[in-house]
Amino acid sequence: MICFRLSLIILVFYMSCDFVSGQFHTAVYSPDHHVEVYLNTEKNGEFTYKVKYKNKPVIHSSRLGFSLNKPQVELTRFKIISIDTSSYDGTWKPIWGEVSEIRNRFNQIKICLQDLNKTDIVINLTFVVYNDGLAFRYEFPDQKAFKHFIIKEELTQFTLTADNKTFWIPGDYDTNEYLYNTTSLSEIDAISAAIKEKDIAVQSLIGPNAVQTPLMMKSPDNIYINIHEAALINYAAMHLVLDKSSNTFTSHLVPDVIGNKGYLETPAKTPWRTLIISDKAEDILSSKMILNLNEPSKIENTDWIKPQKFIGVWWEMHIGKGSWDMASGKHAANTENVKKYIDFAAKHGFDGVLIEGWNKGWEDWFGNWKEDVFDFVTPYPDYDIGALTSYADNNGLKIIMHHETSGSATNYERRLDDAFKYMVNNNINTVKTGYVGKIIPRGEHHDGQWMNNHYLRVAAKAAEYKIMIEAHEPSRPTGLHRTFPNWLANEAARGNEFNNAPSLGITPEHETILPFTRLIGGPMDYTPGLFHFKLNQYDSARKTKVRTTLAKQLALYVTMYSPLQMAGDLPENYEVYPDAFQFIVDVPVDWDDTKILEAEPGDFLTIARREKGKKNWYIGGITDENSRISRIKLDFLDMNKQYIATIYKDASNADWDKHPEAYVIEEEIVSTKSVLEIVLAKGGGYAISIRLNEK
Ligand code: NOJ
Ligand code: CA
Repeated sequence: MICFRLSLIILVFYMSCDFVSGQFHTAVYSPDHHVEVYLNTEKNGEFTYKVKYKNKPVIHSSRLGFSLNKPQVELTRFKIISIDTSSYDGTWKPIWGEVSEIRNRFNQIKICLQDLNKTDIVINLTFVVYNDGLAFRYEFPDQKAFKHFIIKEELTQFTLTADNKTFWIPGDYDTNEYLYNTTSLSEIDAISAAIKEKDIAVQSLIGPNAVQTPLMMKSPDNIYINIHEAALINYAAMHLVLDKSSNTFTSHLVPDVIGNKGYLETPAKTPWRTLIISDKAEDILSSKMILNLNEPSKIENTDWIKPQKFIGVWWEMHIGKGSWDMASGKHAANTENVKKYIDFAAKHGFDGVLIEGWNKGWEDWFGNWKEDVFDFVTPYPDYDIGALTSYADNNGLKIIMHHETSGSATNYERRLDDAFKYMVNNNINTVKTGYVGKIIPRGEHHDGQWMNNHYLRVAAKAAEYKIMIEAHEPSRPTGLHRTFPNWLANEAARGNEFNNAPSLGITPEHETILPFTRLIGGPMDYTPGLFHFKLNQYDSARKTKVRTTLAKQLALYVTMYSPLQMAGDLPENYEVYPDAFQFIVDVPVDWDDTKILEAEPGDFLTIARREKGKKNWYIGGITDENSRISRIKLDFLDMNKQYIATIYKDASNADWDKHPEAYVIEEEIVSTKSVLEIVLAKGGGYAISIRLNEK
């Protein structure tokens, strides 16, 4: 029996609500109407959503809800209390980034739900629908009888419509440094994949069907779907567990040491659950949805925040030329050696030199699980920090600090103020942090609520001291660099340094997958620019090698976006190829514009970017293990202007396995009418700098 029915159709919202049966249906469309989101309460009170893109189903009816440990209740059946719709269209300017201006345009619906299980708990669900996808979050508003609560599990589901092609890494509470697997959903086998990984410090696997986000998929009808989250604050990272019988992923939050998944106090909200959707792979890479969903900068004066290019006393330890510790007798961070790096960096106009192994503790840093290994303020006796920071200063650049915590995040928090004061006193304003190994002493997980709060506390505290930061071994980013633009980059995935790892290392396709997965959440410190390929240069026992061509290493400076880019290799290896090194010297780290020219996850991608405040463009193109021809139009160049393109590409005999160092450099006059055709070797790539011809 229907007593009252409300039907409302306007351009972007459709709603019908039967308040007696309790059933409710509504739809929200993206501004261009390509993304359609249908929201329902079912007869049993379950709240579900489904998604279509250009009329094709992308997400089948999927349930939302929560399971709590305190109070012990399942929040899965609801009645609707109220509904509020709105639209937004605006632009904003990032402090640094891939583009100088970002449009934020969406239609939004906020639904106030009340639990039907007699707890009267109220949850608001907000859906925002963009042209490039959708996002939703749960809010627990302030309410009298519901203040502190403990999450047992979030019950968000994503039911895919087919056995999609999927780019995945195993679900793991402590690490994301896996090699990507490409299989159909039904073939996901996270345990087998993880067993092959012998070089990951700590593994905490979830199960055979568990994967991490950002998760990239392609449906049989060629729709690209990326699932991730935005604004991960005071909450555990969301991994996903697949039910293969229904192609349904359910959220799996990372627990704390006793198994709880989150401690919250109302008013509270979850991160946004995001779905970036398009029928063009290029659109996934140009989506700014994750950034749009994060809050604007909390830092008012941002003049001191600067994108940077740096080298480091770093790779020489990884390949066994030097060591972090003094006891080894080959301590790399000694004053004389560091000066050589500063000279090299100054000669080539770099902004910084990272020094690892400068401080006492490295004799004991890994495997003993001791809390107080580092104090972050005591240099080794052969490292004259005062002399070196002034030497750097006189040469127009800065030392970059290194804080390896060896998993002792509590020790780091206790010492954080002293550590940052020490940096400020020594005129150092950028730090690379690190969390290798188990988190001690509490046994928290790298991706849990406690550690996610830790990374944020460190970034916020760094901002107080005007310090820029990048973290190694954190949970994967979710766009928080919009809110804390001093948080320049993170590792949080398998970086170039894994070429040195004896087991799986890095395959040629890895770099064609990362932009579609890990980089969706934010910039990565990938440390590109390796020019010496066999890694037995200083230690004959090493059997590993870099699995790209030299030209591809150059391309990564453009394809692997970061405002913090390292030239990873040793100065002496760059001196062998000064003409190719020139691209690393020239390539900017901040951009006004970005064009994704071609892309297919797992296969290839080509990106063009315009230098901040200049007319110059830089292009990077990469391929996987297959050779290919890249044809690109330069129609993004200014009309009626001539440019000089310097093309760094694979030589005809180049091959990642046989002749990785074979490259050629060509110069060409180009204009907006030019079309370039470039052959990429197996595991190869190319880089181009395009500068205005002033002559
Ligand atoms: C792992 C980091 O990824 C690497 O870059 C660093 O050199 C070592 N930890 C030592 O802190
Ligand atoms: Ca491939």
